[in-house]
Amino acid sequence: MIRSVVRGFGAHLPEQIMKNSDFEGVVDTSDEWIVQRTGIRQRHIAGEGETTASLGEMAARQALDRANMTPADIDLIICATSTPDNTFPATAVNIQNRLGMHHGVAFDLQAVCSGFIFAVATADSYIKSGLAKRVLVIGAETFSRILDWNDRTTCVLFGDGAGAIVLEAAEGDGSNADRGVLTAHLRSDGAHREKLYVDGGPSTTGTVGHLRMQGREVFKHAVGMITDVIEAAYAATGLGSDDIDWFVPHQANRRIIDASARKLGIDDAKVVVTVDHHGNTSAASIPLALAEAAADGRIKQGDLVLLEAMGGGFTWGSVLLRW
Ligand code: ACO
Repeated sequence: MIRSVVRGFGAHLPEQIMKNSDFEGVVDTSDEWIVQRTGIRQRHIAGEGETTASLGEMAARQALDRANMTPADIDLIICATSTPDNTFPATAVNIQNRLGMHHGVAFDLQAVCSGFIFAVATADSYIKSGLAKRVLVIGAETFSRILDWNDRTTCVLFGDGAGAIVLEAAEGDGSNADRGVLTAHLRSDGAHREKLYVDGGPSTTGTVGHLRMQGREVFKHAVGMITDVIEAAYAATGLGSDDIDWFVPHQANRRIIDASARKLGIDDAKVVVTVDHHGNTSAASIPLALAEAAADGRIKQGDLVLLEAMGGGFTWGSVLLRW
């Protein structure tokens, strides 16, 4: 059986850091409120000249280096983003060009905060079907550019950044002992559109628009949807929370992460948390968290890693993989 194995990982964050205290005087908020409700203490904000493609390119280069590969080895780039440099062409094509790669295929995938999960599942399908052998999967965002900086209920929550992994086709025996993606489960339901959306777009207002969110409504659905797709991953593999070495959730809010881990019976010590220093970086949050935990030696080859995300749409999904 063909498996999609992680060969390299990378991350890139803008230099500029915005602390909670930097919002005081801008909107009516406080460090205490933000930390208590979200766990966020700071986020990185893209500076002049930094874009989703430039952040994605840096993360991609790191992932390629760690995989001991060059762009010549890659046959597919998928970039998960909701904040593309331009309406078109795709940010993935922009990154492809920045990497000096002029062969293969590159496209964007838009599933908001679930984008990286959707992109890994898509890359895995390409690899399993023989359509691709080595895929660069990127999650890159500049949410700071679609925030309403006068809206305290949303502007304190998000940050910018990019993460990437390289997946490569490898022969496995089809058992849970294989390295690579063991199972992926994706869901969406457009009935929830109004709870989290951007109030602009090329075909409606002709403007980029700003992020709008009914935070309490999102919160209400999040834990149930997250646990639903994780239970689907457990059912598909016969594995369970006790088998998991690392839980790497989408980093939206500390309370959602803690409540999901508690409901699933996943030990706190196995949960990778970056939301405190990255904020919510949407599709970039999982590859950024993976890169941090792999670089500092927590995630090791052979570890069982559980990923999940939920975001605008709503979209939600899980990936269970052996590193
Ligand atoms: N500073 C101070 N007060 C604030 C702020 C702020 N930044 N934002 C809201 N408030 C106020 C509200 O106006 C409200 O005041 P009121 O009672 O006078 O009306 C009060 O705080 C409580 O507001 P709630 O919205 O009920 O606060 P809640 O406890 O629900 O926390 C939060 C808000 C953090 C957004 C929470 O609902 C949440 O985490 N929801 C999930 C949102 C999320 O994670 N979204 C991203 C996930 S999906 C994705 O990643 C795209």
